[in-house]
Amino acid sequence: MTKEKKSEWNSNITFILAMIGSAVGLGNIWRFPNVLYSNGEGSFMIPYIVSLFLLGISFVLVEYAVGYKFKTSLSKILFKVQQKLEPAGWFILLIVFLITTYYVCVVGWDLIYVILSFTKVWGSNPDLFFSNNVLHSTDSITGIFTIVPTVLISIISIWFITWLIIQRDLNEGIGKVSRVLLPLLCIIVVVIVIFSLTLPGASIGYMQIFTPDWNALTNLNVWLAAFGQIVFSLSLGMAIALTYASYLPDKAKLVDNALIVAFSNSGFEVFNSIGIFSILGFMALSTGLNFNQLVTEGSGLAFIVFPQVFNIMGPSSQIIGPLFFLCILFAGITSIIALLEGVCYSISEKFDFSRKKTATIVCIVGVLISSIFATGAGSMILGVFDAFLNNFALLFAVLLECIIFGWIYDFDKLIDTLNEYSRIKVGKTWKTVIKFILPICIIGLWIQGVYTTLKDGNPVSLTIMTILTIVLIIVPIIFTKLPAKSKNYYEDI
Ligand code: PHE
Repeated sequence: MTKEKKSEWNSNITFILAMIGSAVGLGNIWRFPNVLYSNGEGSFMIPYIVSLFLLGISFVLVEYAVGYKFKTSLSKILFKVQQKLEPAGWFILLIVFLITTYYVCVVGWDLIYVILSFTKVWGSNPDLFFSNNVLHSTDSITGIFTIVPTVLISIISIWFITWLIIQRDLNEGIGKVSRVLLPLLCIIVVVIVIFSLTLPGASIGYMQIFTPDWNALTNLNVWLAAFGQIVFSLSLGMAIALTYASYLPDKAKLVDNALIVAFSNSGFEVFNSIGIFSILGFMALSTGLNFNQLVTEGSGLAFIVFPQVFNIMGPSSQIIGPLFFLCILFAGITSIIALLEGVCYSISEKFDFSRKKTATIVCIVGVLISSIFATGAGSMILGVFDAFLNNFALLFAVLLECIIFGWIYDFDKLIDTLNEYSRIKVGKTWKTVIKFILPICIIGLWIQGVYTTLKDGNPVSLTIMTILTIVLIIVPIIFTKLPAKSKNYYEDI
């Protein structure tokens, strides 16, 4: 935002709340309990904590140090590190933008469910209702030519809310919204968890979290799942921490901040999953099903399993139902604005656009792309976007950042930046983690991701992935080649 004064957080608290808001999202509310459920429950916590400390926090620290040191946008930072690296910046930002386009759609589905949950119109078969009445899903790709109006309206609404927030000044927009939504989110989660614990059968569920299956620890997939969850949940590799840290005023305690954010994010998901597991325990008791038969994989499950639970819950579901979906809505919005901030910052710096103009352009393009998900083939295409971008492209982005900052850039400068004002210091171990351990783990996860993505691939999904790959190659080159509005872009760093 070169035209305007450089943005800066008005306090460290605003920064921390915005960071926690960016991290706490669908990943915490739905994905974490689901991953926990399918990976040895109790014993999953060990790989999870190891991944959090060893990899998650280490990587967040890299982004904090880089953002704080350069105090500018990702594409410009990479240009500064080495001119040839600018396309890598646009590549990462494009992945983030594409992830946002479908993330908005899932939050849009959620918006529909906030309203539906008051009357529970989904009836006795929420699964069928979700695919037939909400998504109007078709099995074939030809469904792409039928628009589903309700989904389209909710997607446009979410983009509009996002635009309202991000076009405003940093503290007035993102800062204020995080200050309001995050405490509200916490209150709602506390209410849901306390209520869930009073349900009959709750202990069948939450005891699972504290009953380890030690065999799971020897399973490499469980470790990869734990690491994958940390990448997703802390939004690693999306340049969010980097962008937010670039707005920090001087003398920031970077390491202390990173620890607060990471612990709050994990604390949130573990606490929340006590509620989700209790609710599943209640469902197991009410339906007579075995606990492990209740859930199968899938992102749409929040809209299937929970309506089923609310059906058997009685009158209290009239309050808990809307609260649950509201919780996802708030968590989703604070993540969307964070995902877009880095994208907007790079565009506005390079082309010297105002914050408002950038936000408007990005949101309009966003609406156009997200509209694909508001068609009969929408949820199928969304699944392909999700698998490709999360299992494959995003991990590549994390790996790229490790290589650029761990190997190409002088890493010791980052150690100095971090330790300058922080009470807790980092040392050489951190360097080893970023240079060697983290890349090895990412490659492991990446191979696993590529394998599952390709194994589950069919001609349609492979075509969509090929198109995405081409877009991910061409668009960053175009953005790099486009001349910056002012020559200073390349000089004043
Ligand atoms: N970490 C956030 C979440 O858990 C944000 C996020 C968005 C992560 C998109 C990955 C992809 O939902």
